[in-house]
Amino acid sequence: MCGIVGYVGDDNACEIIIEGLKRLEYRGYDSSGVALFEEGRIKIYKSKGRIANLEAKIANENFNSTIGIGHTRWATHGAPSDVNAHPHGNMDESIAVVHNGIIENYVELKDSLVKDHGIIFQSETDTEVIAHLISVCYKDNLLDAVYKAVEQMRGAYAIGVISSNEPDRIIAVRKDAPLIVGLGEGCNFIASDIPAILKHVRKIYLIENNETVVLTKNDVKIYNSERKEVKHEVFNVTWDADAAEKDGYEHFMLKEIHEQPKGIFDTLNRRLSSDGTISLDGISLTKEDLQNINKVYIVACGTAYHAGLVGKYAIEKLAKVPVEVDIASEFRYRDPFVDDKTLFIAISQSGETLDTLAALREAKRKGARILSVVNVLGSSVARESDDVFYTWAGPEIAVASTKAYTTQLVCMYLIGLYMGITTGKLEQAYYDQIIKELKAIPEKLKTVLKHEDKIKELAQQHYKMEQVFFIGRGPDAGVCYEGSLKLKEISYINSFAIAAGELKHGTIALIEQDTLVVALATQDRLFEKMLSNIQEVKARGAYVIGLAKCGNTEMEKQANKVIYIPDCMDEVTPLLSVVPLQMFAYYVAKLRGCDIDKPKNLAKSVTVE
Ligand code: F6R
Repeated sequence: MCGIVGYVGDDNACEIIIEGLKRLEYRGYDSSGVALFEEGRIKIYKSKGRIANLEAKIANENFNSTIGIGHTRWATHGAPSDVNAHPHGNMDESIAVVHNGIIENYVELKDSLVKDHGIIFQSETDTEVIAHLISVCYKDNLLDAVYKAVEQMRGAYAIGVISSNEPDRIIAVRKDAPLIVGLGEGCNFIASDIPAILKHVRKIYLIENNETVVLTKNDVKIYNSERKEVKHEVFNVTWDADAAEKDGYEHFMLKEIHEQPKGIFDTLNRRLSSDGTISLDGISLTKEDLQNINKVYIVACGTAYHAGLVGKYAIEKLAKVPVEVDIASEFRYRDPFVDDKTLFIAISQSGETLDTLAALREAKRKGARILSVVNVLGSSVARESDDVFYTWAGPEIAVASTKAYTTQLVCMYLIGLYMGITTGKLEQAYYDQIIKELKAIPEKLKTVLKHEDKIKELAQQHYKMEQVFFIGRGPDAGVCYEGSLKLKEISYINSFAIAAGELKHGTIALIEQDTLVVALATQDRLFEKMLSNIQEVKARGAYVIGLAKCGNTEMEKQANKVIYIPDCMDEVTPLLSVVPLQMFAYYVAKLRGCDIDKPKNLAKSVTVE
């Protein structure tokens, strides 16, 4: 979480940094700030709330600074406030620091800074420790001081440092938090993510863990933990900044919902040849590797974890190998049974989620083969995996994930199909059928999107509800978890998802007159079972919105309202059924006046534990 930007060059640093921070607001948006070297000293400006508040605060200042660092925050230590906002300075403000991550031993460091050096702290943050630590380590060389400070720090961090003693440079360090360097003509940048600086540069260095960078306007030097200079290849960004614009839609989330047919098409297209064979270009899993695998672990967080729940059905059915799905923050501390016969699939849109990354490392340590499903090229998860199966969703800006989820599902099907056909466990005819169904999804999804008005109407009827339940069986249960998460994270309604058969074991006690229940019944072989579950909740007064495949008109007799998706094989319904749920969450949140693209307490990239 949190976004950092730094600039050194000849232009107005403040404008460039603030513009970059706006592009990083998805990483956190509870406060922001900048530190600039101005008139011979460091000046720090910060403000609680959105970047607009910071802009208002500095509107009357006339900055000439050509070097500075900035930060947009997602609070971990200390509530969102002006004083806890970054940058943080040392006592005489000759040093300023921005930080993304957590310093785990900050209490210990703070105690010693107070006791041994008489430091007076201003904020409740862990970050302020870094500024003071660098300050007490400083003799006459900022790089020396940063190295000495970093030696004492434990945790995850990407930091940017400037000092009035060496006002021509920014020093940045990366450990388990994303950091990139942008290479300009007579100017250089640091940032947490590419969109922050894409307007200015296309040549990027992806900084590795435990590397330190020294940037002046004409030079960038990268050092490893032994302080030996290292060389990196330049990464050329080919995609456009426009992909991260709203394109006339009121919110990024709505735009991204509508981009799903394209995302699915592109993800399929990258892997499928015209005769339906799947090419694993760039992925080195051989037939022998796949035959050696006796277990698949899918590990992820949030929406990506929900993609894994559906992935379990797909891979078990198509590849006929046992699949376990786990939440990354649980997996990593559980001493899981993983060995060299395990295929570990990490799913992550951002590729920077710390828990997923840590789980991946744990699985790697135990000998598993690591395949990741990632949307962001060159991200940490991608770089640390043996192989990467990219989703081609394009940049996802809204905090609530939509198009990343559906493209992750596509990857689950393709992985299952590839494993099944390569190991000979899947019949060709069945393989061909599923491929045909997958290819038809983008067009069918366009039909689903055309029924937006119907979903709007449902949202209008229900947006004042206090709670809602999502029920389904088989893959529908996985989709229910995602539909429920979408609703709660952007509309703040208390929603709950449960496998329909499990209702009667306790949760049904919560169903009362007019409780809204969304019942997914897209699976032909489970359809009648779902009808019984609908009867059970209706008998207790629930209002039921059913979701079924076109043609299953029986649903109209049972549910109060029905959403239909185009007919398709049971195996692929999640790719269609989740979309009305995303739209329902969107319109409910809109009617409740919520900040849809930036819901409270959340951030797009979760780089802390
Ligand atoms: C919810 C959402 C989150 C993410 C989760 C993992 O809409 O976006 O639950 O899915 O934080 O993020 P990634 O996929 O970047 O690892």
